[in-house]
Formats: sequence, C-alpha cells, structure tokens
Amino acid sequence: MPQTSARGIVILTGAGTSRESGLHTFRDPDGIWSRVRLEDVATPEAFERDPARVHGFYNARRRALLSDDIGPNPAHRALARLEAEWPGEVLLVTQNIDNLHERAGSKNLVHMHGEILSARCLRCGVAGPWSADMNLETPCPACGQAGGRLGALRVDVVWFGEMPMAMDRILTALEACELFVSIGTSGSVYPAAGFVQDVRERGRAHTVELNLEPSEGHSLFAERHYGPASRVVPEFVDRLLRDGLGGTS
Ligand code: APR
Repeated sequence: MPQTSARGIVILTGAGTSRESGLHTFRDPDGIWSRVRLEDVATPEAFERDPARVHGFYNARRRALLSDDIGPNPAHRALARLEAEWPGEVLLVTQNIDNLHERAGSKNLVHMHGEILSARCLRCGVAGPWSADMNLETPCPACGQAGGRLGALRVDVVWFGEMPMAMDRILTALEACELFVSIGTSGSVYPAAGFVQDVRERGRAHTVELNLEPSEGHSLFAERHYGPASRVVPEFVDRLLRDGLGGTS
C-alpha cells in the first residue's frame, strides 16, 4: 500500500508522452484528428451510426500499439522510477489508452479514458483484456453472446460525451497532493484540463507543466519546462529525486 502520509504526487499524462514511442498525438498538425473526424469514430453516436467503422479505427490503433517497433520511451521509464523511489504516493493519471506506462513499470496508474487493450460487453457489461481485432460478429468471452446490430463488444475506452473513469480516486488524490505535474497534454479536454485549477484552488501544491510547447493552460502552472518528453521528463525526475519538493523552482 503506497504511503499517503508523505508528500503525494499526482502526474497527468497525455498523448505527447507517447509521441517519441511512435504513437501519434491528436491535435498536432500530423495528429489523429487531422486525418479522421472524432465525431465519426470516438463518440457513442458514431458507434450507433457505424459500429464497423469505429471497430476499424480502434483495430488499426491496437495493431500499431502491439507492433514490435512500439515501446516505452525514457519519459515512461522516468515516471516508473519516480513511483519506485519517491517516499510517498505517486498516482499516475493518464489520458492515454496505450499500455506504455505499464510496460515501463508504473503500477499506481489510472486510465481515465480507458484502455485500447480492453474490451467491454454491451450485453453483460464485463470488461477484460483484449489484443485482437474486434468486429460485429466477435462473441463476448464472458457471456458468449454475439451478433446483433451493434455486435456484442466495444473497445473499453471513454468516448466524447461519456464519463471519464476513476474520477473519485483522481479528485481525492488531487486534493491531498503536494505536487501536480502535467506532461504531454494540450490541456484542451476536460475534466483533465481542469485538474491544475482544482489543485491551485487548494493553494498548497506546486504545479508543473512539462510539454513540447505551452499548453492551453500553461499560465496556470507555477513551473514550466518545454522540450521533448524523453528529455524533459527524466531531467525533471532526476532533479526531484535529488533535491526533493523544495528543489523544484
Ligand atoms: N514531448 C512532449 N510533448 C509533446 C511531444 C513530445 N515529444 N509531442 C507533442 N507533444 C505535446 C503537444 O505539444 C500537445 O500539447 O503533447 C500534446 C498533445 O496534445 P493532444 O494531441 O491534444 O493530446 P492530449 O492532450 O492527450 O488529448 C487529450 O483528447 O482526443 C482526446 O481522448 C483523447 O486523451 C485524449 C484527449
């Protein structure tokens, strides 16, 4: 059980953290939403309208994630090291649906937008690990049901308009933390984009942004470092483990 008395840290990560692993972000010029409309593949209405297209979108991203040339980068590994070496709780809240934080060794982790390597049954509601393609005929491994207009399974991710996962746990950790670090996110999607304001309103924790460039909420952070995550995150973690909270400027 991670210590909660010592000075807790909450880390929020976004797609920029995985960019140097070879996975695209969403809103960069070469991002996913520059090639496909989120309204066509990442909403409950899109799934109702054309479930096969939604399955195809996530099947392609799942296959890409599982290809041999995709793996954790130094940013993922630095965050796993921070969790292992920090004398208090480090909660990693990721918006990412990939498994690169787990593969780097992070354990105290919440996927607030779900996981592409998980499937959920529309009939029995059971969710579980899933690494294959999914289509309308794929049967649920838990209840065995299949078929129907929408099929039996959906990818276990949070679409626009759906409730993010584990918000109670996240808000409790934000309330108690001494340090909030936002990494590789544009700060354009709520509730994640509002976490820094939640922390500031309590007036106690230090807030840090580590990103390639200033995010939409950059002015809300007390400390900011810009550059590729694979450089900036290890540098920040090294400094934090060497100097403690007092050392962050
Ligand atoms: N290192 C650090 N930051 C980077 C890098 C990099 N190598 N490359 C890009 N970035 C930054 C970009 O500057 C941008 O600010 O990562 C951020 C990516 O922003 P988005 O593409 O908007 O991704 P994200 O913030 O994770 O999106 C949030 O929106 O579409 C939904 O559900 C989806 O979880 C996602 C959410």
